[in-house]
Amino acid sequence: MKYDYLIVGAGLFGAIFAYEANKAGKRVLVIDRRNHIGGNIYTKEVEGIQVHEYGAHIFHTSDKAVWDYVQQFAEFNRYTNSPVARYGDELYNLPFNMNTFSKMWGAKTPGEAKEIIDRQIEEAGITEPKNLEEQAISLVGKDIYEKLVKGYTEKQWGKRATELPSFIIRRLPVRFVYDNNYFNDKYQGIPIGGYTQIIEKMLDGIEVRLNTDFFDERDALKQQADKLVFTGMIDAYYDYCYGELEYRSLRFETETLDMENYQGNAVVNYTEYEIPYTRIIEHKHFEYGCQGGYGNTGAINPKTVITREYPASWTKKAEPYYPMNDEKNNALYEKYKALADKEEGVIFGGRLGMYRYYDMHQVVAAALACVRENIG
Ligand code: FDA
Repeated sequence: MKYDYLIVGAGLFGAIFAYEANKAGKRVLVIDRRNHIGGNIYTKEVEGIQVHEYGAHIFHTSDKAVWDYVQQFAEFNRYTNSPVARYGDELYNLPFNMNTFSKMWGAKTPGEAKEIIDRQIEEAGITEPKNLEEQAISLVGKDIYEKLVKGYTEKQWGKRATELPSFIIRRLPVRFVYDNNYFNDKYQGIPIGGYTQIIEKMLDGIEVRLNTDFFDERDALKQQADKLVFTGMIDAYYDYCYGELEYRSLRFETETLDMENYQGNAVVNYTEYEIPYTRIIEHKHFEYGCQGGYGNTGAINPKTVITREYPASWTKKAEPYYPMNDEKNNALYEKYKALADKEEGVIFGGRLGMYRYYDMHQVVAAALACVRENIG
């Protein structure tokens, strides 16, 4: 055998496995069907701005070991995710907190805000929510639901809220403090210089073949390696023998604009149903903080890059961005996992291989656990 490991997928999971295996003296080949490394965390420089090609990526974790691990490959800034929601001409801070409530109702104290929310929940009189709409109203009341939850969720799922099951929303966090920080994690940031450098450093000195789809050369590729690490779709690996797992897809529309500052924030959510995109990202604000477009040199960048994110239904030709972890799909996944568990010499990993809505910190933890189990 020429290689100890053939790794399918040069995303975060595949790259960590490759890096650690290579460090342990294993011979590794990494392939990816895309024309670049990094999977969905890939960033590309445009006009001096790191563009998140596959949507906003903010690293956050409370796990110190994970945070320390990624620091080896890049220096992170102190970016704090604080998205803004736009509903018509009204702008609200997210997540739902005192800034949101004071704008929506003029509430001045936590007590006043709480009273309004409790009253709206009581007025709705929902005891057993039958769908997502009823569930959301019973958690946050009518105003927040109608302006900030309804349209966004309907676009996201491609269905009306009354047709969506209630279990999709178990909780809607409401904070009675003036704090727009979206994540509760201890550590949060964006790598200065983008995410691609992290994957580049991990794959340094390792043979990588891009534009190579595993399924086009399956037998030949497998013959070259002792073991396979597969981070593509687990249902595809088994030729969809039990049926297709479902995903949600996205379409990104990116534009470079001749202006310093388009929206004043990295992420603005559009919560009206009538606007077809769910959010606009202005990439420079991930790196430059809230200073309105100043680069590391202190000079103002006269250009900016924005991306509109449109939810899309998934077909086999589209990218499977989000696993749909509902009961039906999880049960189907378990059937594929039972096949995978019996398989000799094949490791399934990452978002698609494990069919899990993994964030980056969870992928790091899962990849390191997988390395410990298989390489030691
Ligand atoms: P990933 O999908 O990145 O990599 C898999 C690779 O395998 C891909 O490069 C693919 O081309 C390749 N591949 C698949 N099938 C193949 C085949 N048959 N042959 C060859 N190659 C094949 N997380 C977070 O922590 N904070 C955030 O803000 C966000 N935001 C976010 C936004 C959006 C829009 C998405 C879709 C996702 C996020 N994430 C996130 C999640 C984050 O993207 C995710 O955790 C990691 O990218 C997952 O890394 P993987 O390596 O598992 O998969």
